[in-house]
Amino acid sequence: MCGIVGYMGESKIKRILLDGLKELEYRGYDSAGFALMQNGRIEAYKAVGKLDNLIHKTEAVQSSGFGVGIAHTRWATHGKPTELNAHPHQGRFSHVVHNGIIENYTELKKKLQSEGARFLSQTDTEVIVHLYEQLAERHKDSAKAFEETVKQLEGAYAILLIDERCEDRIFFAKKGSPLQIGLGESGRFFASSDAALVGLCHEAIYLEDGCWGWVSPESLNLFEGESPVSPVAKAIPPTLHSAQKEGFRFFMEKEIYEQAQVLGDTLMGRLQEDRVHLEEIDRTLLDGVEALRLCACGTSYHAALASTYLFERLSRMEARVEIASEFRYRDPVLKSSELFVVISQSGETADTLEALKMAKRAGLKTLAICNVDNSSIVREADATLLTRAGIEKGVASTKAFATQMMVLWLLSLLIAQRHKTLDPALLAQEIAAMRHAPQVLQVPEKLHDRIHRLSKRYLHGHGFFFIGRDLFYPLALEGALKLKEISYLHAEGYPAGEMKHGPIALADSELFTIALLPGTLLKEKMRSNVEELIARDSTTLAIGPECFDLADDYLPTQPTDHPMLEFYEMMVVMQLLALEISIRLGNDVDMPRNLAKSVTVE
Ligand code: AGP
Repeated sequence: MCGIVGYMGESKIKRILLDGLKELEYRGYDSAGFALMQNGRIEAYKAVGKLDNLIHKTEAVQSSGFGVGIAHTRWATHGKPTELNAHPHQGRFSHVVHNGIIENYTELKKKLQSEGARFLSQTDTEVIVHLYEQLAERHKDSAKAFEETVKQLEGAYAILLIDERCEDRIFFAKKGSPLQIGLGESGRFFASSDAALVGLCHEAIYLEDGCWGWVSPESLNLFEGESPVSPVAKAIPPTLHSAQKEGFRFFMEKEIYEQAQVLGDTLMGRLQEDRVHLEEIDRTLLDGVEALRLCACGTSYHAALASTYLFERLSRMEARVEIASEFRYRDPVLKSSELFVVISQSGETADTLEALKMAKRAGLKTLAICNVDNSSIVREADATLLTRAGIEKGVASTKAFATQMMVLWLLSLLIAQRHKTLDPALLAQEIAAMRHAPQVLQVPEKLHDRIHRLSKRYLHGHGFFFIGRDLFYPLALEGALKLKEISYLHAEGYPAGEMKHGPIALADSELFTIALLPGTLLKEKMRSNVEELIARDSTTLAIGPECFDLADDYLPTQPTDHPMLEFYEMMVVMQLLALEISIRLGNDVDMPRNLAKSVTVE
């Protein structure tokens, strides 16, 4: 949700800024812009839409020698995606880029306007630059002015600001939105995620909330409130590679194909013969834990929901799921005997992060299941299980979901071992199924071809219902989310048994039902529910190991005796279906409209 890049040094500034934005574009792609300062003059460039528009527009822009630059790729929150609303925002002598939301911008704006400030955009961000300039004029001290500015801002922010009057500084501040300072041989770098720092520096300072300061060629000045803080640099993970499409049409397609391999990575070192071993979890973390409270958003929320069936069935442990954005504003009754588990691919989702902080304040032990080491959620939680999916660039989450499910399955078995809720033979069966899981995620060429051909029949209609029961109900929710995110067709996930309590009223030949028909769980119940829809003429695509003659279309999965293996295979089928429908509709699969990869605003 917005990406920020900054650089101070002697290398090609424009190239560094644009390359950094390319790495972060998945975070927001409504508009992009950058500002360069050389010899005390700032020039800014902006373009609406994808980053390529900015790249073309600035082909002739050159920079040489020492300079500073800040850049931004935007996911609109306040004001439409226009050039005027694109960052950087400018005052008379300074420019700012910002990720997050300034909650008190209306009152600040009114005050600044009454004092003569002229606003050009509808954004909340613009108040920062006018407030800073007003304070800089008053104090005649840019650092003091920046400190005072930050003090007056409420909400969430990662900010970079440059000022023509101090041409060798970049000011920065962080609260609630990610920001890192990369320490490279050719200068200082800033980025919202270390993906943009790879290849430029080996170490970064992962800023904590409440930090602000400035960098100059000679120094890095870091403060928390009024107190100076010594910066602590950490190595950027060596495994972090800049993701490339490697011949696939879209990152999402590549990430679907990668699932078999990354699931193997998730399991690596975590299975010991007939036992699960999670060395990241200190034995004491589970001491006294009687129930789990899982909290997440979007796809990660679906993983949480699906996992409750595993925790109940395998670990005999109560597991309750919370949507983070709802949880935060309730007055939840929390018990110290609950382990609070947050699930997040990015580790930066604002609502999930705040829910985690709430649980910590209430004295609960916390565990993060996350794909990004050093992310805000990982740093906040008591313990972390990394999902090891690698960088996920497609906005529609695929391999992150697959690996989250695996970590949750591992955790359910760890608890089962501890509480002895599974006899050794059953535990061994679970572990054998787990070891087999990466294989069922391999995509057979024939299956992909078939889905490609079938997809042309599912490009219209007045809606899709993805239906399933048990574990396959949250999977149906996830299938529907995948389709609507990238095809813009209306899709809903529903528990199959609930259709007759209302939604079946929608059934006709233009209503598409995607039915998950596993062989291992509630087979007959599920068939009856599908037949009820077919009897009302809903066009039906059945997915499962047994051919379902009554359905209009059928996609096969392998017969197996473990529901999680069916779960994974059906997951791939639905991901490919959404992908192929989206491609046929001519959509940008990786950067669907109105969305951004990591949602760092509430
Ligand atoms: C998934 O396809 C979505 N893009 C979205 O629902 C996502 O899962 C959600 O925003 C949560 O993100 P997180 O896992 O990074 O916290």
